[in-house]
Amino acid sequence: MKSTIRLDKMLGNLGYGTRSGIKLLVKQGAVTVNGQRAKDPGMQINPHADSVALDGETIAYRDTVYVMLHKPAGVVSATEDNRDRTVLDLLDPDVTVLSPFPVGRLDKDTEGLLLLTNDGKLAHELLSPKKHVPKTYRALVAGDVDASDAAAFGQGVTLDDGYVTMPAQLQVLAAASDASEALEASTSDSDPSGEELRAAARLARRNLTPDYTEQPLSWIELTINEGKFHQVKRMFEAVGKKVLYLRRVSMGPLTLDAALAPGQWRELSEQEVDSLRSYRKEGLSARP
Ligand code: URA
Repeated sequence: MKSTIRLDKMLGNLGYGTRSGIKLLVKQGAVTVNGQRAKDPGMQINPHADSVALDGETIAYRDTVYVMLHKPAGVVSATEDNRDRTVLDLLDPDVTVLSPFPVGRLDKDTEGLLLLTNDGKLAHELLSPKKHVPKTYRALVAGDVDASDAAAFGQGVTLDDGYVTMPAQLQVLAAASDASEALEASTSDSDPSGEELRAAARLARRNLTPDYTEQPLSWIELTINEGKFHQVKRMFEAVGKKVLYLRRVSMGPLTLDAALAPGQWRELSEQEVDSLRSYRKEGLSARP
């Protein structure tokens, strides 16, 4: 693989301007390579070995980016869209210049963990249907979710198109009465339920059509090992229940950082990137 690139391309990739803007910076003497003033914006450099500085500040080169976003409701998991704001609109230009894309999709009204990267190989492997990367969701569901639903999900349920899902693990986190109380109390400060459930209840209110106002609610956690279109919502539909609020909390070895509010993001730590890489190699291949 070629290890050198043009100086103006390197600076452009990192968001330092257009080719003509960078040409001007070079002409003005603002750019140095290994301490020497650069004269030719088209000079070849090795971005990993040569030290490039702009106005005396050394520029750290990178060509990959890995972002954990707490996707809020109301934005779409796409790189561009004619109507809606996309998840890329939430990131900073020094990240978007590296052209990250979402690894899989969350519905427009779903919140939670979304990984964005420009590492196509890693994304491909995490998304591969053969790899069965587990994804864990929390949901507020209209209806009394009980052991019979957990047993049905454990076996696999038949979706509206006839597809039978792989075994999934369903756990009820708050009994129907508590979840319903959270919804009742979600606008009051004295609500005793946890912040997470309270936030979910506030969002669930938006989906409460008259059909669902009379029903009990359940706060659940579900882990699925595949990623069919609208899978969680359709699994609950298969057992006669409706998801009113949905949030992804983990994907493979990555867990949503509790410090990130909806709409906030951060780059992955090296450890998190390593965990995804080794998961891809070891964790996934060890699965049936
Ligand atoms: N399942 C769904 O139904 N929606 C999502 O956004 C993710 C999983």
